[in-house]
Amino acid sequence: MILVVGGAGYVGSHLVKELVEKEKVVVLDNLSTGFKQLVDSNAIFVQGDLGDRRVLDDIFNTYPIKAVMHFAANSLVGESVTDPYKYYQNNVAATLTLLKAMVDHNVKNFIFSSTAATYGVPNVDLIDEKQPNNPINPYGKTKLMVEQILEDFATAYDLHYIVLRYFNVAGAHESSTIGESHDPETHLIPIILQHLLGEREKISVFGTDYDTPDGTCIRDYIHATDLANAHILALDALLEEEKETEVYNLGNGNGFSVKEVIETCESVTGIKANIEYGDRRQGDPAKLVASSEKIKRELGWEPKFNLNQIIESAWKWHSSQNIS
Ligand code: UFG
Repeated sequence: MILVVGGAGYVGSHLVKELVEKEKVVVLDNLSTGFKQLVDSNAIFVQGDLGDRRVLDDIFNTYPIKAVMHFAANSLVGESVTDPYKYYQNNVAATLTLLKAMVDHNVKNFIFSSTAATYGVPNVDLIDEKQPNNPINPYGKTKLMVEQILEDFATAYDLHYIVLRYFNVAGAHESSTIGESHDPETHLIPIILQHLLGEREKISVFGTDYDTPDGTCIRDYIHATDLANAHILALDALLEEEKETEVYNLGNGNGFSVKEVIETCESVTGIKANIEYGDRRQGDPAKLVASSEKIKRELGWEPKFNLNQIIESAWKWHSSQNIS
C-alpha cells in the first residue's frame, strides 16, 4: 500500500487517479487547501494532519505502507513572503514529524514534491539539477530544507527517496472530473480562464520590466497528468531498488511569458481578455525553464501535453464547474 499525503490537493489528486490503477492507496489530507471530492473513490481517505504523530502512528499500524508520497504543503510564493511562519511550520516542521514516524515504523521509501523555487534566480536558459540552490523566497527555502533533511535521513536511517522539483503545474485530468482549484486562486492559468468565463473582471499582469523579450515573466508549464506519471516512474524505481536517492526536475523544457500564456488562452477559448499591466509581485524570478533530460534518460519519462493542450484540458474542466 502507498500513503499519499496531500492526496486531496490539485497535484496529489491527479497522482492518486493514476496510482489506484496499480496500487492500494491511503490518502491523508487535512483538507486545509484540498477537497475531499477530488480524491478517487478507490482510495482510502483519512482526514488528519501530517504533523499529528498519533494519526501517523495509527495509519502505519493499520496499513502495510511500503512507500510515502508527500504532496501536502503550502505552495504560494507571495504568501510565503508575508507569512513565513506558516511555511516553516507546515512545510518543514510537520514534514519532519512525518519522516520520523516513517523511520520509527520502518517505512523506507519516500517521494517528495519539491520545486523549481529552490534554484532562486539561475543564470542559464535551461535549469538542470546541477544548478546551485539559492532560493529567494521562504517557500523555496522550506522545500530545500526538507531536501537537506532527506540527505541526512538517508545517511543515518537508510531512507530511500526521490525528490521531484516541479516547474509550473497546470491542466486538468482528461476525464474533467478533477482540475486545478485553489481558494483563493493565485495561479496564472486558472485566473485567466476564470476571467474568460466571466468570473473575474480582468487579469493583472505582474511586472512588465523583467529582463525577458516582452518584459513579462517566463515559466515552464507542465500538465498535472504528466507530472503524476513521473511520480509513478519514481515510485517504481524506488520499489524495484533501481534508485536510492535522486533529484529530478520536471518541466516541459519550453518557456512561455505571461503575455504568451494569455494569448494562448485567448486562442484556445476564442475570447479576448481584459488585461491590466501592473507592478511586479514580490519573490518572482524572471525566468524558470527546466531541463528534464535526467528523468527522461534515467526513468524514461516523456511529457505528452504541450501548452496548448494543457490550456485546452484546463478550459474543459473550468467550463464544467459551477464554481471554479
Ligand atoms: N501572474 C500574473 N498575474 C496573475 C497571476 C500570476 O502576472 O494574476 C504571473 C506571476 O507573476 C508569474 C507567472 O504569472 O510570473 C506565474 O505565476 P503563478 O502564480 O501561476 O506561478 P509561480 O511561478 O509563482 O509559482 C509556481 C508554483 C510554485 C513553484 C513555481 C516554480 O505556485 O509552487 O511555480 O516555477 F515554486
